[in-house]
Amino acid sequence: MALRTIRNYADPLLRKKSKPVKAFDGRLHTLLDDMLETMRSVSGLGLAAPQVGVLKRAVIIEHEETLFELINPEIVETKDTQSRTEACLSVPGKNGLVERPAYVKVKARNRHGEEIIVEGEELLAVAFSHELDHLEGVLYIDKATEIFDVKAEDDEPAE
Ligand code: CO
Repeated sequence: MALRTIRNYADPLLRKKSKPVKAFDGRLHTLLDDMLETMRSVSGLGLAAPQVGVLKRAVIIEHEETLFELINPEIVETKDTQSRTEACLSVPGKNGLVERPAYVKVKARNRHGEEIIVEGEELLAVAFSHELDHLEGVLYIDKATEIFDVKAEDDEPAE
């Protein structure tokens, strides 16, 4: 595994739409493994492939010791709304308040190309929404109703 460089919000690559993954091969597995190592190195909650400069539809989320690897993910169901404070590894030093669905169900492929369905509420629903937005070139700062400078005591897990 290897650490990859996390792109900053000013990088135009983060504004591009990512392409579907077609080959569930060793190259994809290396990308996912590197993303996990990179995310853990900064204690992140989630990371999308474009954040490490790869315009492929792949995201990872690690929440309560469960690792989600979502390839070609699509939101298939949402319920209700919630407003939570978010942070993004590509937007250092900031938090923002964003309205998101309270429940999100996602259809995706795993690293072997098998179809999976995952669902989440609260923080996990936010993470699904936030990471899938990255694949469309959308950052939370586009949707935030308020953006704050981070203070150490109110730091949120970044994704
Ligand atoms: Co992010």
